[in-house]
This record gives sequence, structure tokens and C-alpha cells, in this order.
Amino acid sequence: MQSYKHAGPVDCTVDFDPSHLKGKTAIVTGGANGLGEAYVRSLVAIGVKVCFGDLDIEGGMKLEEELQGTKFIRCDTSNWDDQVQLFKEAASFSQTGKIAYVIANAGIHRPDEVYLYSSNDQEPQKPELSVIDVNICGSLYTTKLALHYFMKQNGQNPSSVQEDTCLILIGSGAAFLDVPRAPQYCASKWAMRGVMHSLRRTAFYYGSRVNVISPWYVKTKILSEEAFAHVSNAGVQFAEAEDAGQCLLRILSDKNINGHSIFVSGRKWASRGYMDLDLEDFSGNALIQEMQEDQMRPAPVSKGLFI
Ligand SMILES: NC(=O)c1ccc[n+]([C@@H]2O[C@H](COP(=O)([O-])OP(=O)(O)OC[C@H]3O[C@@H](n4cnc5c(N)ncnc54)[C@H](O)[C@@H]3O)[C@@H](O)[C@H]2O)c1
Repeated sequence: MQSYKHAGPVDCTVDFDPSHLKGKTAIVTGGANGLGEAYVRSLVAIGVKVCFGDLDIEGGMKLEEELQGTKFIRCDTSNWDDQVQLFKEAASFSQTGKIAYVIANAGIHRPDEVYLYSSNDQEPQKPELSVIDVNICGSLYTTKLALHYFMKQNGQNPSSVQEDTCLILIGSGAAFLDVPRAPQYCASKWAMRGVMHSLRRTAFYYGSRVNVISPWYVKTKILSEEAFAHVSNAGVQFAEAEDAGQCLLRILSDKNINGHSIFVSGRKWASRGYMDLDLEDFSGNALIQEMQEDQMRPAPVSKGLFI
């Protein structure tokens, strides 16, 4: 595994061969429905064993029954103990006891009480912040556990015997576009890019990588039927869950992909439904690159994983 180096956008138009992933074990949170289910299906289709956690017991059990090579665990990702259990179950489900890939997918969207205005004659009420609890706290729990398992498996010193591991965080169009009226959701999705930026330079110490998948509108249960119909009627072309699944395999199958955000887009923008917008670096901007150097000067990556 190499230390982080920006080498331009990932070519998302090429054929790729994910067959070497066969036999590995992955964790998908929120895997019982929607995009999480698509990630589970794409992984299983190439022979990856998948342990997936979800709040939806009925949906999870149904999917586990349908797909050989999967294990469903009831898990609320905003609950630390639930996630500890999910990772333990995944390790015992794995043929080798190892977890290679972790997809921190579980996420919710709610009317945003940070934004909503009560009325002129009401005191502002403390806002409900469950989007932060699930989308940020839950994803940070997943991140901590993924790092723990990856380091335990691979050690903390780069070597040629380390087996590739990868953490995938889930952003959104709301992770880089202006989405009016949704400060909580936007904060939670921009946050995933922040986590990735913080980890991508040190991941090589434990033989790992970290990337973000940012889906555009995909028709799932995250919004109501009416809300999706409204978006569609406004002339927006949706992205496809299956393309998100292929995007995941594109990232996992190439050990050189580290520190990228891949946008799962409408097909009108990308022939395979996903593309690297190359938003995570400032190539060509010497000033920001100099600032980045200075940012790390007091604690360079070369000083070690923990200093
Ligand atoms: N669908 C879209 O248009 C879209 C766009 C951008 C980003 N995303 C992101 O993709 C991810 C998946 O969304 P989706 O569209 O598939 O939504 P979905 O609602 O269809 O599915 C989400 C799944 O996560 C589960 N879940 C919710 N909260 C959970 C929790 N606390 N613990 C465990 N499981 C939980 C649900 O039960 C469900 O099975 C989310 O992070 C979402 O923000 C979706």
C-alpha cells in the first residue's frame, strides 16, 4: 500500500475485474433496503461474504434467506454496542476471521428542525438531531470499529504481506452541492468527506484505504414516494442503485483507489452511472497545496500513525 498521492480522477468508464475479491468478507450497514441492499447484492454476486446490519428485521431476514453467503444482524448503528456486536458476528462469519471491506451506508433523512421556523410568538425549541446521531455518530462508530479490525489484522507498519482493506463512507450530492433547507443532512454528508480526508493519508500504515461514494437521487425508501415523484416531475434524472453497486466494486477491485469520492450519477452525466469529479484535491492550485503542506508540517505523516 502506498502513502497518499493524488494521481488524478479515477477512470470510471473502464471495464474492471473484481474476481480477486471472491472469498473476502464485507460489512454493510443499513443493508436490508435501498442502496445498502444494492451493495450487498453486488458483493454477493462476485463471491464476497457479507454480514449486514439493519434496524429492519423483516427485510434483513428476507434478504439473508434469499442470498447465500450473507448474514443479517439486527443493528442500530447509532448504538455503539450494537455495532460492536455486528463486527464480532462478521468476524466469526468470515472464513478467515478477517474483515476486508466496511461500507458505512446506514443513513436517514428527516425534516430539518434546525432549519424550521416555529412562529413569531414561540420560543425556539431544541431541535431533534437524529440525522446527526445516525449519519455522523453511527458512521464514526463504524469507522472506529473498521480501523480497529484493520489494524488488528494488518498491524501498524506497512509491509508487503498486509492484505488490502477498505472503508467506504457514504456521502451524497448533498456532500458537495448546495441543498437548500437541509443543514443537518448536508452537514452529515459533508462530514463523511471530512472523515475521509483525515484518514486517507495514514491508512497505508495499516494496509488500508478509505473512499466515499456519493449517490445522486436514487429511488429508495429514504424519501416518500411523493417526494421522489416531485423530484422526477421537476425533470431530474435519477441514478440507479445497481450502478452504485458497480461503483463499489470498481473501488474495491483497485488497490490504488484511496482518498476519492465517486459520484453515483444520472446516466446522462456518466456512461456507467458513476464518475470521479476530482473534488478532493486542489491540483493546479499552488496556494492551497502550500497550505496543505503547512497544515501537516507540525505532525508529518512520516512521523507515524500515532504521535
Ligand atoms: N437514495 C438517495 O437518493 C440517496 C442519495 C444520496 C445519499 N444517500 C445515502 O445512501 C444511504 C442509504 O440510503 P437509501 O437511499 O438506501 O435509504 P433507505 O431508507 O432506502 O435505506 C436505508 C436502510 O438503512 C436502515 N437504517 C436506517 N437507520 C438505521 C440505523 N440507525 N441503524 C441501522 N440501519 C438503519 C434502514 O432500515 C434501511 O434499511 C444513506 O446514507 C443515504 O444518506 C441516498
